[in-house]
Amino acid sequence: MAIAGHALKTNITTLGPLVLPISEKLLFFVTLVAKRFNAEIKPYIPDFKLAFDHFCIHAGGRAVIDELKKNLQLLHVHVEASRMTLHRFRNTSSSSIWYELAYTEAKGRMHKGDRVWQIAFGSDFKCNSAVWLALNNVKPSASNPWEDCIHKYPVQLTL
Ligand SMILES: *[C@@H]1O[C@H](CO)[C@@H](O)[C@H](O)[C@H]1NC(C)=O
Ligand SMILES: *[C@@H]1O[C@H](CO)[C@@H](O)[C@H](O)[C@H]1NC(C)=O
Repeated sequence: MAIAGHALKTNITTLGPLVLPISEKLLFFVTLVAKRFNAEIKPYIPDFKLAFDHFCIHAGGRAVIDELKKNLQLLHVHVEASRMTLHRFRNTSSSSIWYELAYTEAKGRMHKGDRVWQIAFGSDFKCNSAVWLALNNVKPSASNPWEDCIHKYPVQLTL
């Protein structure tokens, strides 16, 4: 987790300025400056919910999803696709982000103008992001891998 966290930080720092609204960038900057005068001030974690409607988080295991949910202050619905993908397909490593995108589409949640953040980890320090914009409302397709069972999801997960 420590290594993933480090790679993620690098990647978010690159991605943040490209996708975040100006208000979030400003808050981040102000906090950064304030921190120079008072080391006790915690760095501001931008609210990525303002930049994205859907999150496809690398579902390598529960720990990654839990940690990202906590650190990015996401809600249950934002990690639902990741958790359900892990539940149904187990650990498919970084390819999980495509099952998650398919989940969101199968649920009929992908609307015109929605923005998606796919984030995946590789070995060592690799972390990559892809950002998508939906040009249209996406109708669930017959070849969607969730087509036969999407009505059963989300399922309740036990610990
Ligand atoms: C982070 O993600 C961007 C895409 O947003 C990618 O182009 C870049 O190579 C990644 N950088 C690192 C350091 O992982
Ligand atoms: C998930 O699978 C990848 C690739 O096989 C592996 O490297 C990784 O350790 C697995 N994750 C967990 C939590 O077992």
